[in-house]
Amino acid sequence: MVKKMHLGWFMNFSRSTAWTSPWVLESEAREWMNGDYHIDWVRSMERAGFDYAMLEDSSMVADGYGGSMEVDLKHSLYAPKGDPLSIAPVLAKATEHIGIISTASTSFYPPFLLARAIATIDHISGGRAGWNIVTSSEDRAAQNFNLDKLYEHDTRYEMADEFVEVAEKLWSSWDADAVVMDRATGTYVDHNKVRPIDHVGEYFKVRGPLNVPRPPQGRPVYCQAGGSPRGRQFAAAHADTIISAAQGIEDMREFRDDIRRRMIDLGRDPDSCKVMFITTPVLGNTEAEAKERWEAMLHPTQAGVDVALGHMGALTEIDFTQIDADKPFPELTTNGHRTTLEKFLKLGKTPREAAGKWAIRYTDPTFVGTPEKVAAEMSRVFDEVGGDGFLIAAGGSRRGITEITDGLVGALQQLGRTRTSYNHAHLRDNLMEF
Ligand SMILES: Cc1cc2nc3c(=O)[nH]c(=O)nc-3n(C[C@H](O)[C@H](O)[C@H](O)COP(=O)(O)O)c2cc1C
Repeated sequence: MVKKMHLGWFMNFSRSTAWTSPWVLESEAREWMNGDYHIDWVRSMERAGFDYAMLEDSSMVADGYGGSMEVDLKHSLYAPKGDPLSIAPVLAKATEHIGIISTASTSFYPPFLLARAIATIDHISGGRAGWNIVTSSEDRAAQNFNLDKLYEHDTRYEMADEFVEVAEKLWSSWDADAVVMDRATGTYVDHNKVRPIDHVGEYFKVRGPLNVPRPPQGRPVYCQAGGSPRGRQFAAAHADTIISAAQGIEDMREFRDDIRRRMIDLGRDPDSCKVMFITTPVLGNTEAEAKERWEAMLHPTQAGVDVALGHMGALTEIDFTQIDADKPFPELTTNGHRTTLEKFLKLGKTPREAAGKWAIRYTDPTFVGTPEKVAAEMSRVFDEVGGDGFLIAAGGSRRGITEITDGLVGALQQLGRTRTSYNHAHLRDNLMEF
């Protein structure tokens, strides 16, 4: 029997309808915030047996490109973007099996508010909620939360560790059987089964208890994406699933092996965390058609270059308008996304070349071809890396979504590589099934 792979989708509650595409209705490009498009999207994923939809997030309008918000807003890069915690229950109610993971930052949320919101979504979804634990990386976002700039990189992870500790205390502040509904005594909740947590730590002070019963999964599924040594250690300590942008089979294998080693050192079973590699498959009816689409993507317009450099500028706080796009990169460093900048610099000799690949969320190995060929390639890479699955970053229109969910996943199912139905009610149980 071949080993099965897990599938997630890197989703955003944003203009993902790629409004200029000929495959997108004008009305939908305008009104995506009513949630209908995202409901259809997540239902398609569920039809294909995806483990989860991961709703990414940030909380700012970026202005790192030439000191103006123009590129961000013109190309709807960071904004507009709806709140993941608000759309998550809507998506949960429109589906029955798929997990819904919401991104939320430990640098900005108070632990009580977030623990309550995620517990509520876990109840609403019947145990299918997840939390993508991020520490955030932009000063512009920090300035929306009483701060002038972000806390220092490793301090953010120290805070995140304590944040998770507090959230777990809050979720456990209700015993699983606290709701007794005893008609004889007229008791709804037995107060002996609910306790304050009285947490006083270095960063947070929370009395508790939570005002929501223990979530169905006990705690939500934890997703994480740290790439630095400190980030990896945090992920290895907590995550049920890690999403990674490792480039190339070597890098992917090194990343997964490193995480597994760290988990063993921490006393965790390495199979209790699924590492998913982000990828943007390029599909076509024929090899030639897929290649043609890929070639077109590699030569973006000036708008595509602006978008990629604007995006990179927001993550690294480097103003790329000050750098010649057609000359070799100068020496660059950042206090923001260090690993992301390093990867970007490796994509090409000049900003324009690198932007061309970044513009399509360039991933290596690149899967280009018919659904059958891409499914076979993904299976080969999966076997070489050792597991655990892929995080799809694609779509933009119903056509793009269907190519993945019905075309590519159809072919993966034929190979016995992905699930054809769900066997468990909870996200964590589906994730740990294989
Ligand atoms: C696939 C993937 C998805 C991510 N999604 C988000 C996100 O939605 N919001 C966010 O603030 N950061 C996101 N990040 C950034 C990570 O949380 C993290 O800050 C980054 O990988 C740098 O890791 P480091 O802090 O350990 O260096 C994502 C990273 C990756 C690789």
